[in-house]
Amino acid sequence: MIRFESVGKSYPDGTVAVGDLSLDVPDGQITVFVGPSGCGKTTSLRMINRMIEPTSGRITVDDRDTATMDAATLRRSMGYVIQHAGLFPHRTIKANIATVPLLLGWDRRRAERRALELMEQVGLPAHLAKRYPAQLSGGQQQRVGVARALAADPPIMLMDEPFSAVDPIVREQLQDAFLRLQAELGKTIVFVTHDIDEAIKLGDQVAVLQVRGELAQLAPPATLLAEPADEFVADFVGKDRGYRTLSFRSAPYPVAEEPTVPVGASTDLVRRTAVGGWALVTDDERRPLGWVDPDKVDGTVSTRSLHRGGTVASVTGTLREALDAALSSPSGRGVIVDDTGALLGTVQAREVVDAITATARRET
Ligand SMILES: Nc1ncnc2c1ncn2[C@@H]1O[C@H](COP(=O)(O)OP(=O)(O)OP(=O)(O)O)[C@@H](O)[C@H]1O
Ligand SMILES: [Mg+2]
Repeated sequence: MIRFESVGKSYPDGTVAVGDLSLDVPDGQITVFVGPSGCGKTTSLRMINRMIEPTSGRITVDDRDTATMDAATLRRSMGYVIQHAGLFPHRTIKANIATVPLLLGWDRRRAERRALELMEQVGLPAHLAKRYPAQLSGGQQQRVGVARALAADPPIMLMDEPFSAVDPIVREQLQDAFLRLQAELGKTIVFVTHDIDEAIKLGDQVAVLQVRGELAQLAPPATLLAEPADEFVADFVGKDRGYRTLSFRSAPYPVAEEPTVPVGASTDLVRRTAVGGWALVTDDERRPLGWVDPDKVDGTVSTRSLHRGGTVASVTGTLREALDAALSSPSGRGVIVDDTGALLGTVQAREVVDAITATARRET
């Protein structure tokens, strides 16, 4: 556990970047620092690995005062990721990722093996290993940044707006990849962002900071949305905070069995299977292909007669995806699939809304 005990940072010119911050960062979880520009997020993060030295209070890691540790050793024991990845431009991707392991004295072969293994884990094709950072897209560079921070397998990761320099679609892909990786690795992560949506999606707990690093609220995302501690937090999480609940990673909602027909099914079979005027068509592996209206089937179901407007939600996805699947489905029933893309069943919008309400109530 990382513990802030009345930590402060003032500069000689009188600026108080952080006044008096106390909070705990539990092991194996993602703690997000979120707040407006200049509130002291980066300062607080960098005080953990002593890239910035606190001027008051203390920070402990597993009860050891970091001020008593060797600063270089402390720094290498924590992964650090920043905006724009901060890669070494004249080193290849492989060499960038292997940097810390080599500093720690690993032999070259082992460090390179590790680099290639990490590239795969963060979703980078191996053929990029010999390229230089400038030859990669912004999203790929951020993945290299994450891989490099993970290279020496540090228990703690410090991340300062790592995904904010890429476009929204790439950002979402990076966030999803990051969550999948964290589910596997269970690192202790401190993640800085000024984006409340990102904080809610990624955080196990979220620390909302205001100027001078004052802690306005420390809570799981659902609590933050349902019970903001004060006006500042309420403003910061926004007027549409009810909708934001939808971005929760997952919550249980009922998935009803949905009868299906194959391509080639007769009009008669479609008519007997359809519920509320629509039947779901799946392929041999039970992957959903689209909905079909029996009145529009001319003899047998062909792929051309399918309504493909509806989105498909993964059962491990967010409530937003499930609700979107229901609202975009011509039958009003959202299609839910498992990890392999095979049909699990369907859910109605009303049921997703009930699940949202229940989650908010349970977590507060
Ligand atoms: N070397 C310095 N000397 C004086 N003031 C500084 C120094 N470094 C940072 N500050 C001030 O400390 C405050 C906190 O800065 P910090 O970088 O921690 O903010 P932040 O929350 O990360 O902001 P942003 O979201 O813009 O990155 C700011 O008001 C900043 O101007
Ligand atoms: Mg900052």
